[in-house]
Amino acid sequence: MKTLLKKILTTIAKGPTFQKWLKNELLLKETKEIYRDEKWGFVFTAYTENKDQYRIPHDHGDGWVIYTVVSGIMEMGSYSQDTGKIVRGSSDRLQSGESRVYLPGDIHDTRCLSDRVIILRFTSCDLKIEEREGRMKRYPLISS
Ligand SMILES: [Fe+2]
Repeated sequence: MKTLLKKILTTIAKGPTFQKWLKNELLLKETKEIYRDEKWGFVFTAYTENKDQYRIPHDHGDGWVIYTVVSGIMEMGSYSQDTGKIVRGSSDRLQSGESRVYLPGDIHDTRCLSDRVIILRFTSCDLKIEEREGRMKRYPLISS
């Protein structure tokens, strides 16, 4: 199912009509909730970030997430856990129409590499609830 959703999101993200509509929607605000399913709990959101905006490593609690870049470039780094510490592994540069899936337990960070990036985020549940109820965690970077 996640593979099919990823394919759908990638197709949507590449559509010129959708891109034009979304860019207009995001002119005045940075985030737009496109759809929330009251029965199944999934949430479909679009948002923007600006150059060098960084989100520290985090997981998504019990949820899974599909990120799709509509425009711009977003770097996404993956982390593993080793004796209580997180260790940065590979990173990918996602461009228009490219997606990444993060499953429960996966840890990643994000950094906007272009002047602006527009992202579609499909989550299996409301991440604000995951964070409020202590399942979703952020991992502050500790410099040594
Ligand atoms: Fe995330």
